[in-house]
Amino acid sequence: MTLGVPKTRAEVKDLQLLRQLFLDAPSQQGVQDYWSDDRLLQLYDDTYARRIAWKWDAVLADLGVRGWTPGSSISRIIDWGCGSGVASERYLAHYASVSSPPLLVSDRSARARHFTERKLKTQNTNLNISSAPPDTIVTEPSDLVLLSHVLTELTESQFEKLLGSIEKAHCLVWVEPGTPFCSQRLIQVREQLKENFAVIAPCPHQRSCGLINSNKDWCHFFANPPGEIFQSSDWMLFAKELNIDLRSLPVSYLVLQRNKNALAAQSNRVIGRPRFYKGHGKFLVCRADGVKEESLQERNHKADFKTWQKDCFSVQITSAADSD
Ligand SMILES: C[S@@+](CC[C@H](N)C(=O)[O-])C[C@H]1O[C@@H](n2cnc3c(N)ncnc32)[C@H](O)[C@@H]1O
Repeated sequence: MTLGVPKTRAEVKDLQLLRQLFLDAPSQQGVQDYWSDDRLLQLYDDTYARRIAWKWDAVLADLGVRGWTPGSSISRIIDWGCGSGVASERYLAHYASVSSPPLLVSDRSARARHFTERKLKTQNTNLNISSAPPDTIVTEPSDLVLLSHVLTELTESQFEKLLGSIEKAHCLVWVEPGTPFCSQRLIQVREQLKENFAVIAPCPHQRSCGLINSNKDWCHFFANPPGEIFQSSDWMLFAKELNIDLRSLPVSYLVLQRNKNALAAQSNRVIGRPRFYKGHGKFLVCRADGVKEESLQERNHKADFKTWQKDCFSVQITSAADSD
């Protein structure tokens, strides 16, 4: 894995400023275009976007576990707010061999659109790719729309406009930071669109979200970064300079598809990170009848506990006899 670590103080400063923009939600809503040059996009793509890539990999792997595939009726992929194109990059890495309809990348920044077009064309030489400003996009019933890390930058009216412009699509795959703000926004999207869409993930049910009125818990999960980065001096330097905990990759996400019978519902999904104690664990479990903390005895789930301590992204409690 290569990483274009920041090599100068100026690059570190650029990354710090970008991070501030991304972290300071919602005060950054409506922020002006910040992609000042291609070098900044490349720096972003080599660093923050890699961490976003690992979130996408976890989400797309979860969709695979649920039996979801893009389906042959998709005739166009749209990467909305593409930045350096990490959402479509990961999508193509997972599904290009299954289906490869034309890809349209969109961002208010023309520089970002062109960067993404160049990058993805180099990575996928046969790709049919084009770009367009967001205002010109009208979704069609056979579109699949990818959205990634855009929510914190949109004003209320931009957010509503976006929902209006994507609600005709066939499918939405939306990945955001695992923060209370982004979780609440995605819950809002879910509630607003679920009349016409099936909820594919992460929810185990189609009813109203059990966290809609919660001010304590939020819907988020933790993706796993690849183990190699902890052996990489580049990543260690990046983490130190930017004061980032590389182990923590919180993600909120939502996958909606127009076909109401898209997939069989799961019975439950564990939210966030389980808490492990001597001999037992506590799990915040989402079920159709709501979100509640449940306790499991380790002796009844020895192998699962071992797995979940390493990877808690896609935890489901499988047996009804589990309520210890
Ligand atoms: C944090 S970056 C995320 C980029 C990419 N989707 C990713 O996950 O790495 C947010 C992107 O949204 C774009 N953006 C912000 N406001 C926008 C708007 N109103 N319309 C279209 N794009 C917007 C920015 O230019 C930027 O490229």
